[in-house]
Order: sequence, then C-alpha cells, then structure tokens
Amino acid sequence: MNLLEIENLKTYFFTEAGVVKAVDDVTLSVERGCTVGLVGESGSGKSVTAQSVLRIVPRPGKIIGGKILFNGEDLLLKKEEEMRKYRGKKISLIFQDPTSSLNPLFTIGSQLADIVIEHEKVKKEEALDRVIKALRIVKLPDPEHAIYQYPHQFSGGMKQRICIARALLLNPELLFADEPTTNLDVTIQAQIIALLKDLQRELGMTLVMITHDMGIVAEMCKYVVVLYAGNVMESGSIEEIFERPHPYTEALLKAVPRLDETRKLISIPGNIPNLIDPPSGCRFHPRCQYAIDLCKEKKPPLEDVGNSHFISCHRWRELQGGRS
Ligand SMILES: Nc1ncnc2c1ncn2[C@@H]1O[C@H](COP(=O)(O)OP(=O)(O)OP(=O)(O)O)[C@@H](O)[C@H]1O
Ligand code: SF4
Ligand SMILES: [Mg+2]
Repeated sequence: MNLLEIENLKTYFFTEAGVVKAVDDVTLSVERGCTVGLVGESGSGKSVTAQSVLRIVPRPGKIIGGKILFNGEDLLLKKEEEMRKYRGKKISLIFQDPTSSLNPLFTIGSQLADIVIEHEKVKKEEALDRVIKALRIVKLPDPEHAIYQYPHQFSGGMKQRICIARALLLNPELLFADEPTTNLDVTIQAQIIALLKDLQRELGMTLVMITHDMGIVAEMCKYVVVLYAGNVMESGSIEEIFERPHPYTEALLKAVPRLDETRKLISIPGNIPNLIDPPSGCRFHPRCQYAIDLCKEKKPPLEDVGNSHFISCHRWRELQGGRS
C-alpha cells in the first residue's frame, strides 16, 4: 500500500470575485520511503495540495471532493480532533519562509520543546533533550547553546535547519517540504537540499518535495507529479518524465534556469490561467505549441501509458512517435 493516495481531490476558494478552482481533480500517490517531487509554476496548486492533506486550507478555501488516503485511511473523514494527532506527528510540513514560521518571541528550545510536550506529554527536560537531538540531526552547530537563542540570532540557512528539525521532532512518516530553499542564496540552497537528501536516506523518510525547479527534482526525486493550473499533467518516475515528457513538462524542462542564476523563476511563454474561469479542455492549451482543436474542446483523461507513467494529453502518443 502506498503511504499516501490522493484521489480526485478538489479544493476551491470561494472568493468574492468567484470560485478559484485551485486544486481540481488531482490524483497522485506517494510510495513509502521515496522522495516525490511536486512541481509546477507559481499558482499551480502545489501548496494548496499539501494544505489539503493536512487539512489546513485557509479560508475562504474548502475541500469539496475526493479522498486523501494516508496508510489507507481517508483523512477527509477524520474528526478535527483526530486530525490534530496527524499534524506534526504523522505528517509534517516545512514552509517556504523560515523567518515567518518561527516565533520571534520565544527561544528555539522553548518553542520546539512545546511541540514535543503538547503531543507526547513529557517533562520539559526530556523535551529539550529531544530538541537538541533533532538540532544535531540537522547539523546546527552547538545545539546545547542554540536552544537558549532567539530566531533573529540565526542566519536564513540556520533558521531553515531549525525548521527542518522542528518538522522532524515527532518522527513524522510523511514530510512535505514546500519550496524550502526559495528565499536562501544558492550556496545555502545546495546545503539544505543535501541535508534533506541525507535525512531522507538515513531516516528512510517519505518526502514530498514541492518546487518550481526541475534541477532540484532531478537531484532528489524518484517520482514526479507535474501540476498545471490545478490539474495533474503527468506523474511518473524521473526517468520516464525526462525521456518522454508531457508537452507542459517539456516546456518546464527547457526553462530550467542556469545554476548561476537564482533558480527562483522559470518562465515559459504565456500567462498562468485565471482559475476562476480556467481554459476549456486541456488547461494548458492556450500555451501549448502542440494544441489542436480537440485540446480546447475536451479535457484529456489522466491515462496509464505504461511503466507507472500517467499522462493527461490528447496528443502524447502521437508526439512520442514524432520525437523518436
Ligand atoms: N487564501 C486564498 N484565497 C484565494 N485564492 C487562493 C488562496 N490561496 C491560494 N489561492 C489560489 O490557489 C491557487 C493555487 O495556489 P498555491 O498556493 O497552491 O500555488 P503554488 O503552486 O503553491 O504556487 P507557488 O509556487 O507560488 O507557491 C492560486 O491560483 C492561488 O491564487
Ligand atoms: S492535450 Fe493538447 S494542449 Fe494539452 S498538452 Fe496535450 S497537445 Fe498540448
Ligand atoms: Mg506554494
């Protein structure tokens, strides 16, 4: 059994301007012990997918359909009280911005120890020992001293290590890392990626790596799920996806920024669609160089094309012939 199976998930935001279909019929699976990349441009629904799994979608967002099976149990059927036991303990999330996710008013030791105390009802000394161990795992220098310091006393890279330690405190089975290196400079990014890679291997953790960056995906992930405008364009092993990409992934791959750039933005021609009134048929059709009339008219199903590769494109098979 896969650790996580998301089936036909729909998460919409009910705004005054209209209904934003942020995650619209998303199906994906995450195998235990693997690193899976969740990629797509800004606004494609990556964060909302992670928020849906933890059931922390902010207002005016609402999960309106689908299943989220974690170890075979549907999280969407759990009571809020039960869900609290999943958050942090079984499923954890590292946010994009370490600065805003640490509380500036409390020492690192105190805010991390509180998490252990809340979930495991242990004494403060034992909780602090656990915090020190977690800080050691993420290679924060001098953890015994660090627990008495405040967030502002650390650099961005060190703060992100602290956030990773916080996410690991309760030994979660599944960790989402939501663009954990976006606000860090290139050298520090590489260190954080190397750290996550080591942790995944050493702890046998299941990691979902959310990123814009196909370079990071190539370096870290065994499987990839590509999102576009709230829809899954394709999912499969890294080899399959790099060798036989969906037209959108092909465009993303061409847009991999050079290593000496900030790696922040990828740009493919055209604009990301408005999700209140998304394009008909294949949502990528206004930007796709291979689009034909059928693409405007009919949404392509997510089809199994072999080797556990799933593709949503009317023309993929035909294009494979053309490309080889
Ligand atoms: N609180 C909100 N209210 C209204 N719309 C929202 C809200 N949060 C997200 N959305 C919309 O949902 C869509 C998906 O957003 P999401 O944050 O998941 O994108 P993302 O893929 O994580 O992008 P990024 O790479 O920029 O983080 C976007 O169109 C966004 O505008
Ligand atoms: S279905 Fe059509 S528009 Fe969509 S990716 Fe395939 S070729 Fe392009
Ligand atoms: Mg996001």
